[in-house]
Amino acid sequence: MEIAEASRTAVLVCQGRAVAQGRMAVGRFDDPTAMALLRDDERGAVDQVRSGVAPRGWGDRVEFEMVRASAEVMVPRTVGIDDALRERGAPQLVILGAGLDGRAWRMEELAKTDVFEVDHPASQRDKQDRMQGPPPPTGSVRFVPVDFTRDRLDVALAAAGHRESVATTWIWEGVVPYLTRAEVEATMRVVSGRSGPGSRLVVNYQAPALIGTLGRLVARGLALTARRRDPLAHEPRRSSWTPGAMGRLLASHGFAVGEDRDLLTIAGDLGLQVKNQRSLGNGRIAVADR
Ligand SMILES: C[S@@+](CC[C@H](N)C(=O)[O-])C[C@H]1O[C@@H](n2cnc3c(N)ncnc32)[C@H](O)[C@@H]1O
Repeated sequence: MEIAEASRTAVLVCQGRAVAQGRMAVGRFDDPTAMALLRDDERGAVDQVRSGVAPRGWGDRVEFEMVRASAEVMVPRTVGIDDALRERGAPQLVILGAGLDGRAWRMEELAKTDVFEVDHPASQRDKQDRMQGPPPPTGSVRFVPVDFTRDRLDVALAAAGHRESVATTWIWEGVVPYLTRAEVEATMRVVSGRSGPGSRLVVNYQAPALIGTLGRLVARGLALTARRRDPLAHEPRRSSWTPGAMGRLLASHGFAVGEDRDLLTIAGDLGLQVKNQRSLGNGRIAVADR
């Protein structure tokens, strides 16, 4: 991220989860924390999308479409990652770029897990402000403020009590696109160095696609013409990876990819009707074990 303010994309994906709750992939997708983490002014667009009635005004319509599209992405992304986490848990869970992720608060499976939420300091402060009120987490949650572009992730995790020789599940969701290849590689070195036997890395990334770049430019232009705050303005995309390149990166750090699926495939398995198929086709989740 470019400036010292909380992530807006974290809010957009949280809005997507709030839209989906109880309406999409019921029985498979479940995130009651999302709505609670939103501020009043962020819930309006969510309520509108949940109502199914598109607003008339141009500005409201642009926001409506962004939040609606976010829900389509978030359902398969959340379910895919939750499944990988349930399939092979570890005593420690590190969520890299946690944003408004509610897993530590909503997943009973984590009751005995030490959870470390790593995020940009500004985003983390924002989350903690929002958390006043919701029920306490089921397991232990430690907040670890780190800017991946300048701070030492290894030092911060060690200081927070993360044990490098014990198995860890790592979730890296919705963050890789905002980091350069060098920053992704530097983060992988730390993940590798702090992953005891039995560790699992679940990484969500974007495959290269011209249409994705164009789509972002259009979304940005629409937000500007609608005089709305563009949630993507300070979080430009910096890296995309082919499945082959991601597999090689993970293998070079001792993680063998067991599964790498695109979000459209996962959405299909969930029986979801998807409007924005190309966008989901470019988002991927790789699950790799040590
Ligand atoms: C799209 S949000 C995803 C949040 C969360 N993982 C989720 O899926 O709900 C991107 C997250 O990456 C974090 N992020 C982006 N650049 C970062 C950086 N340089 N250092 C630390 N965190 C960063 C943001 O703070 C934000 O929480």
